[in-house]
This record gives sequence, structure tokens and C-alpha cells, in this order.
Amino acid sequence: MNMPAKNAVAIRHLVKKFGNVTAVDDVSLSVAEGEFLTFLGSSGSGKTTTLFIVAGFEDPSAGTVEIDGRSVLSVPPNERNIGMVFQRYTLFPHMSVRDNVGFPLSVRGRPRPEIDKAVADMLDLVHLGAYAGRRPSELSGGQQQRVALARALVYRPRLLLMDEPLSALDKRLREDIQQEIRRIHRELGVTILYVTHDQEEALRLSDRIAVFSQGRIAQIGTGADLYERPANAFVAGFVGNSNLLRGEVVDVTGGVATVRLADGSVIRGMSAAGIAQGCAAEIMVRPERLLPPGAEDGGPTADQAIKGIIIDQSYLGEVLQYEIRTAWQQNLLIRDSRRMSPNLIGSEACFSFRHQDALVFPA
Ligand SMILES: Nc1ncnc2c1ncn2[C@@H]1O[C@H](COP(=O)(O)OP(=O)(O)O)[C@@H](O)[C@H]1O
Ligand SMILES: [Mg+2]
Repeated sequence: MNMPAKNAVAIRHLVKKFGNVTAVDDVSLSVAEGEFLTFLGSSGSGKTTTLFIVAGFEDPSAGTVEIDGRSVLSVPPNERNIGMVFQRYTLFPHMSVRDNVGFPLSVRGRPRPEIDKAVADMLDLVHLGAYAGRRPSELSGGQQQRVALARALVYRPRLLLMDEPLSALDKRLREDIQQEIRRIHRELGVTILYVTHDQEEALRLSDRIAVFSQGRIAQIGTGADLYERPANAFVAGFVGNSNLLRGEVVDVTGGVATVRLADGSVIRGMSAAGIAQGCAAEIMVRPERLLPPGAEDGGPTADQAIKGIIIDQSYLGEVLQYEIRTAWQQNLLIRDSRRMSPNLIGSEACFSFRHQDALVFPA
């Protein structure tokens, strides 16, 4: 029998007001058991407040939070069986790594042998077995975050909340620990609610991503959903790089909109909800979907093009990036995976694309 996945967390019509600031504005979402769900959004968009309400550190102004099918609004934080890791999770400085990790079990009064075993298992899991006797000050920032992770997981919570746990670390270390978090998620099957403002991190880690904007969810879906089928221009601009062109819709037929650009030329794209003839539109095209002259990519053939002067060209390792300026003085990015090209700065070129790779949103 095919059972629908059980919800570990269900948030319904959540609202949080601080005075006249609405930090969370009618957020509803559910997290499946074992799922890795990330809140992605810029600073102030309501991610932490939503997470804190799930944790029980804040009470909502309205709405409900259920964990494992039961309302938790009257359950204190320490009885919600949730593990937590924050950006600067201050470990207890006077305690060894071993005692820090064992702390949640000691305060729960577990017997010594059980604590020792659980701590050893957790330190193995985060590859810090050899550091058990050290103080936090004798560890790097990344190692301290791994201790914090071990401490959050040691009593086997069903749900782990993480609020920007890697943002204080440098890029290389961040990527190492991202891999580790993915592995731990796979091995333990724990449900994770993760907060970040870093879209790359969200894409790398998550089963699904909720994009927050001004206290609301702009879209929730897999990374591919957000990237390939953004619901609105905000998500298109926030997740991945994108070029947004302004124009006026002159026709909509069979889901394809024809848009007149600033210079009078027309291009076609897939029309989003709310697009009608005569309305102002934004057309989104990803940098890697604009093909330089001679680029073959095997799919359906490009059926339109944009012309511009190449004003910059930079080698980024995986791709060659061009910046062009159109006749109406807009700059566009183009990314070419072929990587090899003579210097073309200053020359004019035509970049072709398929109408299926352009999305037309109401402006
Ligand atoms: N304790 C508080 N008192 C007043 N305003 C707050 C408080 N906590 C958060 N806010 C406001 O709520 C909004 C959302 O904040 P927050 O949830 O921390 O955003 P994020 O985590 O996405 O950066 C912001 O405008 C913030 O200033
Ligand atoms: Mg925050």
C-alpha cells in the first residue's frame, strides 16, 4: 500500500507581529518526515522568526504549528524534542568537547555508560573522535560547528533546526561541512529545517526550498522547480543568475507571449499567470540559455536573438562570462560553457535563445 509521506511539521496561516512590523505574514507549509527543507531569503524576510516559532522561542500572533500531528503551541521548547544549531552556537567554553556533546543527555539524567556511548557515536559521525578531550577554544570555527551539530543530534531529536549555521565560516570550510550535513541527514534520516540567505547553499543541501520575501513565501519547491519554473519575477531574480528585460505584451497565444522591447524589436517567451495583451512585462532569460554565435547545445533550435556590444568577457573556470550592452543601454550576462574564445570585447554579437527558455512575468 502506498501511504502518503507523514508530515513532521505543519505550519498553518502563521502570523507574527512585533509592534507594527509584520515579521511573518500568513505562512503555511508542511515538512515531510525525513525531508530537508530550507528557508531561503534575504535579511529581514522572516526566516528566523518562523523557525523560532517552531522551536517555541516565540509565540505566534496567529496560526498553528503542529509537530508529528500535534499542536505544540502550549508545549515549552525543551519538551518539543527538537535539536538546534545557530550561527554562533556558543559551546560551553569551560567544558571539553566530550562534555559539551554529552550535556543534553546529562541534564536529562541519563546513565553514564549510555552517555559515553552516545557521545562517542556522535563524535565519530562528525569525524571529531580524536578531539574529545579538547576545549572549544582549541578548535577551529568549523570544528566548533561540528561539535554543535553533534550536541544537537546526541539525544536523537526527530527534528533539527539550523539557523545560518555556516555563515561565519569561509567558503571552503562551508562546503566541507555542507557535505557533512548532507551525509548526516542521509545516515540519520532526521527531518531538517534549515535557514540560509545563500542560494547556492540552499540548492546544494535541500530537498525543497521555501523562498521568503517580506514575511511571505514567494514560492516553495525543489531547486529545479525554482530555477526552471520560477513562479514570479522575484524568485527568478533571487534563485540563480537571470537577465530581466522590460517590455510590453503585444500578443498571447497558446501560453506563448510576444513582447515588444524598448527598441521596438519583439521576442517571445512562455507566459506566466497574469500575463495579458497590453500589460507591462518582465522577460527572464538565464545567462546560460543565451547562446553565443556558433554554440551548439543539441536541444531544439534557438528561434530568436538579442544583439549587443560585448563590454566585458571573463574566464570563470567552468564558464566564460560575457557582459553585453543592448541598443537600449541594458547590460545582460551570458555564460558560455565552451570556455574558449578570443577576446571579443568591443565587438557586436548576436545571442540566440529559444522562446521556451524565456519566461514572461507581469512587471
Ligand atoms: N524581537 C523582535 N522585535 C522587533 N522586531 C523583530 C524582532 N525579531 C525580528 N524582528 C523583525 O522582523 C523581521 C523579520 O526578522 P527575521 O525573522 O529575523 O528575518 P531573517 O531571519 O529572515 O533575517 C525584521 O523586520 C526584523 O527586524
Ligand atoms: Mg535570521
